[in-house]
Amino acid sequence: MCGIVGVVGRLGNLNAARPNQSVANDAAANLVINNDNSIGVVDVLMEGLRRLEYRGYDSAGVATLVDGKIERRRAMGKLENLRTLLAEKPFHQPGTIGIGHTRWATHGEPSTRNAHPHKGERVVVVHNGIIENYRDLRDELTKRGVTFTSETDTEVIAHLLDQALLRGLKPQQAVAETLPLLHGAFALAMLFQGYDDLLIGARRGSPLCLGYRNAAIDDDSHTGVAAHLLASDALALAGMVDQVTYLEEGDWVVLSAMQAVIYNADNQVVARPSQPLAMNGQQTDKGLFPHFMLKEIHEQPATVVDSLLPFINPLERQLTIDLPGIDWAKLHHVTLVGCGTAFYVGMVAKYWFEELAALPAIVDIASEFRYRATRSQMAELVVFVSQSGETADTLAAMRFAKERGQKTLAIVNVPTSTMAREADIVLHTHAGPEISVASTKASTAQLTVLAALCLAAARGRGVINAEQLSAHLAAFADLPGQFAAVLAEDDTYRRIGVQLAEARNILFIGRGSCYPVAMEGALKMKELTYIHAEGFPAGELKHGPIALLDSGVPVITLAPPDRLQEKTLSNMQEAMARSAPIILLSDAASCQRFGNQAGITPLALPTTSTLTAPLVYTLPMQLLAYYCAVARGTDVDQPRNLAKSVTVE
Ligand code: M6R
Repeated sequence: MCGIVGVVGRLGNLNAARPNQSVANDAAANLVINNDNSIGVVDVLMEGLRRLEYRGYDSAGVATLVDGKIERRRAMGKLENLRTLLAEKPFHQPGTIGIGHTRWATHGEPSTRNAHPHKGERVVVVHNGIIENYRDLRDELTKRGVTFTSETDTEVIAHLLDQALLRGLKPQQAVAETLPLLHGAFALAMLFQGYDDLLIGARRGSPLCLGYRNAAIDDDSHTGVAAHLLASDALALAGMVDQVTYLEEGDWVVLSAMQAVIYNADNQVVARPSQPLAMNGQQTDKGLFPHFMLKEIHEQPATVVDSLLPFINPLERQLTIDLPGIDWAKLHHVTLVGCGTAFYVGMVAKYWFEELAALPAIVDIASEFRYRATRSQMAELVVFVSQSGETADTLAAMRFAKERGQKTLAIVNVPTSTMAREADIVLHTHAGPEISVASTKASTAQLTVLAALCLAAARGRGVINAEQLSAHLAAFADLPGQFAAVLAEDDTYRRIGVQLAEARNILFIGRGSCYPVAMEGALKMKELTYIHAEGFPAGELKHGPIALLDSGVPVITLAPPDRLQEKTLSNMQEAMARSAPIILLSDAASCQRFGNQAGITPLALPTTSTLTAPLVYTLPMQLLAYYCAVARGTDVDQPRNLAKSVTVE
């Protein structure tokens, strides 16, 4: 996690039209324009960090060179605190070079002294990742008389570089010597005292992309304006650069305003492809919504269609998904791997694969997958689910499976992510940038793609006839309308969310493919509201969790109209008998049936099928957690202790 950004050079007027930018750039609104019409380096860094804040918000910092000397500003907490500090203590003449960081704490508490950038005498560094051998390196450096000022693993990098510089090495040589000493994962950006046209970046295990600002495209008043930028995510560079290069594992790059030289892990100069950056700054704006999360929840009728159309033609009722090299009929089982919400999405797919395609499925949490004795149970096909495509546990699990000769299929939302680049087969979700830490539209997009995959498996295995396939595909055509119908009840969810805000514990129960949706509901509730919540299979309640129930513990019951509905409703009544307030999510008929009973709040949902129920029932999970969090006054888009992209193990 953590977000890093770096810049060397001058950026022209961000409002000037650029080839890949069809709309005005919202970034420009916040920025200070210099006399020569270029944008201040600190503003570029702060805008990049604003877009990277989803990666961590324990502290933030920036550094630049002023008259060749390193200066930095760091503040604990959110970027806003750094912004205030910069207003109070602006840099004295910031130059045209700088690095910035937004932190998710790994080593050392969130504090100003642990905030990046970290400094040696002659160098300053920002880092995303974990240096696993930092204790050994720190001990060694301490023996050599180095004094540390933070508890971070990152500070060893600054001192190692410093030591090399002290021995007379040039910055580039110092970096080449230092990188092999580091074990673990890193993306780095480094500035060197006295070198105001030199920015060095490096990546191993953590993402880093390089952006090019083309001088020729800037407005007339510019002569030779050019810049290179670095960032953990291309989103940080949108609207500010014309082309990007995604650095590969082990790459490091030496940048000046005019030149970029990329080296591989063997220190050989390499050429890496660049591509236009087809995003703009507006995609990072929440528009009229009070939070990104609510905006993203309301985007789902559109994103579900965008994610569906590459694989299904719902109107013609055709399955168009193409998976070269997969012979479904020969597969004995499939494994699904992910973390958090993506894991629950995988759990839903397990039910689908088994029920619709008669294909046994194993679902595993990524951080467990590669450390268990999975060898004997390895499927020929392992499916990795990830919004970011960068989650360290999922990525490591994918590499583990690849090394063992398994076919890897990644379902990712960020098309340029490491997983998208490394998997044998990639199925893209088209949810667009998801900024809120809580996953919403990405998860329904993942479910959509997995539903199409399960139907492909069912067809490939010959266990579904044309009529059944057609019925499933027809159900997809109803999804956007059903999503819209759920979202139209926004006010009802707001009211119930407010009531839930008083709860001590909240339980979610469901059966079959709605059991993982119940788990997802509990995860959303926990991460956003900090209320303790758990999801259970409805039938499991009586085997222990029922002891928790009393009038202060609401039970949210997911009972779609399926063959298990009556059993779920019976379990709900067992909870009612223990005075638990019930929120019933079900079809209109069942809601009507229980509507008059005291202690039940029925919420009728559209009529669903096996495939569409987990999708439709996911939306109320999001809305209830969202409104409960708003009522409790928590930080909805950036809940405490979390980060969007978890790039450490
Ligand atoms: O980017 P990924 O989908 O790999 O992320 C996986 C989890 O970290 C993520 O789903 C997390 O659980 C969310 N905060 C859930 O809302």
